[in-house]
Amino acid sequence: MNILVTGGLGFIGSHTVVSLYERGHQAVIIDDYSNASKEVLEKLETLIQSKIPFIEGNVTDSKLVENIFKNHQIDGVLHFAAFKAVGESVEKPIMYYENNLNATLTVAKLALEHKVKKFVFSSSCTVYGDQPSPFHEEMDLLPATNPYGATKQMSEQILKDISFAHPEFKVTLLRYFNPIGAHDSGLIGESPLGVPNNLMPYILDVALGKRPHLNVYGSDYPTLDGSGVRDYIHVMDLAEAHVAALEKSLKPVNIYNVGTGQGSSVLEVVKAFETMNDVKIPLNITARRPGDIAVSFADPAKIKNELGYQTKRDLNQMVKDAWNFAKRSNHA
Ligand SMILES: NC(=O)c1ccc[n+]([C@@H]2O[C@H](COP(=O)([O-])OP(=O)(O)OC[C@H]3O[C@@H](n4cnc5c(N)ncnc54)[C@H](O)[C@@H]3O)[C@@H](O)[C@H]2O)c1
Repeated sequence: MNILVTGGLGFIGSHTVVSLYERGHQAVIIDDYSNASKEVLEKLETLIQSKIPFIEGNVTDSKLVENIFKNHQIDGVLHFAAFKAVGESVEKPIMYYENNLNATLTVAKLALEHKVKKFVFSSSCTVYGDQPSPFHEEMDLLPATNPYGATKQMSEQILKDISFAHPEFKVTLLRYFNPIGAHDSGLIGESPLGVPNNLMPYILDVALGKRPHLNVYGSDYPTLDGSGVRDYIHVMDLAEAHVAALEKSLKPVNIYNVGTGQGSSVLEVVKAFETMNDVKIPLNITARRPGDIAVSFADPAKIKNELGYQTKRDLNQMVKDAWNFAKRSNHA
């Protein structure tokens, strides 16, 4: 299949492009570089040993996106392009609603018009809100606690409504848990522009000596060691879920959690990183961060039962691959 990958130079999109080519598919990428660097395309092409059609631009630009569908035979869309920083979304709600919702609307509308039948959307476990884990797909969604989460809930609804009206337009909503790690070549990984919001890029900055310590938000959660618990998934496992969704999702609307089903605390991730990589991560234990929940992990049974998909890589592999990428790209 020839797949349009929006936001394909970002963290998850770039790894998914590799998975697509590994399975004999091809990609056309559009990205506006709002959170990606120019070298990623070159590295991707080195990895897959082939040129990848790339369009620099914003997916909210209908004319530009329309031309992509006119100029390429597109069989499916993987829609990653979005802003994703929860804190920033609280400060700049218009920017988040404008970008994330217009992106979903524009790409879905044009995909439908050009008779594309498969559309996979990057959703998030944040849509479940603060309720007890494990999260499963049939749970009611609680109102979002921030604009970013609201854009994910609204985009899910928009896509469900489109598929209801046009059942030939098959939509898969993948609710990601917490992707970390990198491709084992060390060529691509997670390198957000600006101050990292997520745990692993922050750990990497500390390990590289760019920041003095890791802030751990909260030591009094009702968890084994008091720090927050999340379901970390290797980004290549997450990438492979997209290919499974494209190849095997059958219903008009398919909703799947993509996680390992196992929670790890912040302190456990730090410990695994230190042990596997022989690097010390100084900690600064501080107060809870507003909006964070204590525990979040997936019930991954549905995607396993329906698509035969299962994660393969463990936490040790995630922290090892993350560090390998950081060292390579920072010449540490
Ligand atoms: N990383 C996570 O922890 C996580 C968890 C759940 C869901 N998601 C979702 O997965 C998707 C990908 O996340 P990621 O971690 O790879 O983020 P990322 O920021 O690394 O990748 C997103 C890419 O989209 C591009 N982009 C953003 N808006 C665009 C626009 N309007 N037009 C063209 N390009 C645009 C950015 O330049 C970037 O390369 C996002 O939708 C995100 O909300 C991520």
